[in-house]
Amino acid sequence: MIMRIDVITLFPEFIESSTKIGVVGRAFERGLIEIATWNPRDFADGNYRKADDRTCGGGPGMVMMIEPLRRALAAIRAASGAEEAKAIYLSPQGTRLDQAKVAELAQRDHLVLLSGRYEGVDERFLQHAVAEEISIGDYVLSGGELAAAVLIDAIGRLQEGVLNDADSAVQDSFSNGLLDCPHYTRPVRDEWGDVPAVLLSGDHAAIRRWRLKQSLGRTWLRRPDLLQRVALDKKTRALLEEFQDEHAGKTMPGRESGD
Ligand code: ADE
Repeated sequence: MIMRIDVITLFPEFIESSTKIGVVGRAFERGLIEIATWNPRDFADGNYRKADDRTCGGGPGMVMMIEPLRRALAAIRAASGAEEAKAIYLSPQGTRLDQAKVAELAQRDHLVLLSGRYEGVDERFLQHAVAEEISIGDYVLSGGELAAAVLIDAIGRLQEGVLNDADSAVQDSFSNGLLDCPHYTRPVRDEWGDVPAVLLSGDHAAIRRWRLKQSLGRTWLRRPDLLQRVALDKKTRALLEEFQDEHAGKTMPGRESGD
């Protein structure tokens, strides 16, 4: 099933240009994912096609109006055949996005994303037409387009056929609850150090073990909060302990020489 993504945004050109690059851009080009953008201004009345208005109660900033958004959503429902479709609203008030949520959304065959601008969106639209709110982090952007682009990229790369190497998504940071291991390429010897010998040994079991150990160690050093959430079996815990013994008193792997 090819995923369809509809984005409601006052800046469709931003979403369109951000879906042109890299592996995800190629996936859109090859039709592995479909995307359509919908500008509430095109559904607004009057010469000015006004899609926002002053905030009730006074104060600075404008709020996106219900009617243009409602019509945009109706057009999406008609175009996609998804009569009940509700939107995901990108907002700092939403649930914080993580890889587990990305993986869950990547399974769906249709997503409607709503990018807000100004002070936000009329609360009544959120209550009636928005199924969930997602934040990409605890900071405030001037609009939801960047957040929607982040979400589209993270979801897009998980669609079947998008990544060349079938394993590369499985090996990502976070996909198993851990950070990724370090990576090296040629040259093997450099004035800033040599590639770890095990990676050149051709011993695949030893390489797998080394990578897992580095993943565990990095997560322990940099994101101990993540480590608390994964259940480690006995062998894996022993591997982490091996790393911890080797790194007692150090804070960042590979950075202890002060370079
Ligand atoms: N819109 C503004 N800030 C945002 C954030 N942190 N996440 C998602 N959407 C946003």
